[in-house]
Amino acid sequence: MVHAVELASTLLSPLGDRWKHTIGVAHRAENLAATVPAADRETLVAAAWLHDIGYAVVDTGFHPVDGARHLDTLHWPPHLTTLVAHHSGARFTAQALGLGHLMDPYPHEDTPLSDALTYADQTTDPRGTQVSLSARLTEMLSRHGPTSANAKAHHLRAPYLHATASRVESRL
Ligand SMILES: [Fe+2]
Repeated sequence: MVHAVELASTLLSPLGDRWKHTIGVAHRAENLAATVPAADRETLVAAAWLHDIGYAVVDTGFHPVDGARHLDTLHWPPHLTTLVAHHSGARFTAQALGLGHLMDPYPHEDTPLSDALTYADQTTDPRGTQVSLSARLTEMLSRHGPTSANAKAHHLRAPYLHATASRVESRL
């Protein structure tokens, strides 16, 4: 855990709002710990700290995979790197970008753990403030624009995110 905070801080603290967002997501994840099995709580919070490091270690330009690949090179546990690769419905956005093959090394999971990570990210705005999922999605579409990959994937990704939110809220 300490290592996750340190690595995230090293990579993201120079990026301003991205670091504020990450701190917010990590704190949100801590508050969602009760929604996951006790054995998964440390992984949840570590993944929250690390979920956006791909913005600091650009390789393919698709940040969920870039973050996961960087963690792979540092020999982080495969389960954690897979959570980072798939956070917030990344597979839908990867498909919209024609990058679905980049997800191949990372098996998707639908578990309370993956749900909690995605919910923490999608209820924390770009400056680290807690928001509703609907507000987050509206802001995201406005910020990225109607031709963005997120907009193209929205019809598939949004239902997944709303279903995820419902599952997490039912566990609180
Ligand atoms: Fe994020």
